[in-house]
Amino acid sequence: MSRVPPTRLARAATSVRTTVQHLAARMVPPEVGVLELGSGFMSTHALYAAARLGVPDTLAAGPLSPADVAARVGTQPDATHRLLRACATWGVFREEPDGRFALTPLADRLRSGTADSMRDVVLMLGDPRYQRVWAELAATVRTGEPGAERALGRSMWEVLEQDAEFGDVFHAAMTRLCALDWPAVAAVYDFTRFSRVVDVGGGHGQLLALVLGASPAAQGVLVERPSMADGAARLLGEAGLGGRYRFEAASFFDSVPPDGDVYLLRRVLHDYDDAGAAAVLTTLRAHMRERATLLVLDGVVPSGNAPHLTKALDLDMMLFVGGRERTEPQWRALLADTGFRTTRIVPTVSPISVIEAVPGRKP
Ligand SMILES: C[S@@+](CC[C@H](N)C(=O)[O-])C[C@H]1O[C@@H](n2cnc3c(N)ncnc32)[C@H](O)[C@@H]1O
Repeated sequence: MSRVPPTRLARAATSVRTTVQHLAARMVPPEVGVLELGSGFMSTHALYAAARLGVPDTLAAGPLSPADVAARVGTQPDATHRLLRACATWGVFREEPDGRFALTPLADRLRSGTADSMRDVVLMLGDPRYQRVWAELAATVRTGEPGAERALGRSMWEVLEQDAEFGDVFHAAMTRLCALDWPAVAAVYDFTRFSRVVDVGGGHGQLLALVLGASPAAQGVLVERPSMADGAARLLGEAGLGGRYRFEAASFFDSVPPDGDVYLLRRVLHDYDDAGAAAVLTTLRAHMRERATLLVLDGVVPSGNAPHLTKALDLDMMLFVGGRERTEPQWRALLADTGFRTTRIVPTVSPISVIEAVPGRKP
């Protein structure tokens, strides 16, 4: 497992970084700052193009000229040079004195099939369908309605069910993001005290695989939509956990198995407005035993102006599914209103927190 710095140290480092970013922003006239911010989408698309075309993979064995890269990935040489050169301005690829381009640490994370790869995440963020939904932001702010239906003609959940290719892109990104913050989560919370783990809306089971991997005696249940069963069987099978989990095709609005001693909800409640999130929690409260534990793994929006991923992710949730990120008082109120008592909220060095709750007085 990768080493995780103490949360307070990471916070201090982030605070220094924020100060440096603010200073850097003040070193250019405001109109230039606006131009730089406004053109931020260009880096998203350039990264996406490089990753999609497989450019970083071609450089894994060492630097190449743009013409050689183009020959290997089947692209046009001049356009390939221009893509590499633009990416290099963001620290992705580096041009050598002889005109060849090399991987940098950022470019390395765009390779496919490596343990640290972020390629799947970039392939989701830059996907034309994903970008089309973000183009609806002004309309969503005007109307309060999610943008997915306007952009894609169907709700996001329908798109994920009916467009198998985009479903694969989305679930691969979810799996990677889950693995990305697991070391930070596992550093602050002991999952090994649970023996029956129910992951509710657990996607293809990445979190369940990590929790079961850390607790050799534990058994798991994955509660998901039926279409997720094959992907889960693949992921948990490859992790050697095929015999230690059960797939339960159920809607978390209807039921969850009653026999868990911990229920995990990772990045599920932020998909819903308060009424939807309360409906999920009410199902859990009705089915879980009084001595079971609920762990909500989600963001907690901090106050103040400091950068925090939850503040942008909040727009993402509003756009795609009409969901939201929540502040600590909002989490506590939501849990109390649905019959839970929040026992602690544990921050991590990543933008996710562990919100621990137990059954309390039923509303
Ligand atoms: C944002 S993803 C989070 C996946 C996973 N927990 C993670 O952290 O990567 C939300 C998940 O909820 C699942 N889901 C949506 N509606 C559901 C329902 N009614 N019942 C069960 N699962 C559902 C989706 O299939 C999807 O995998």
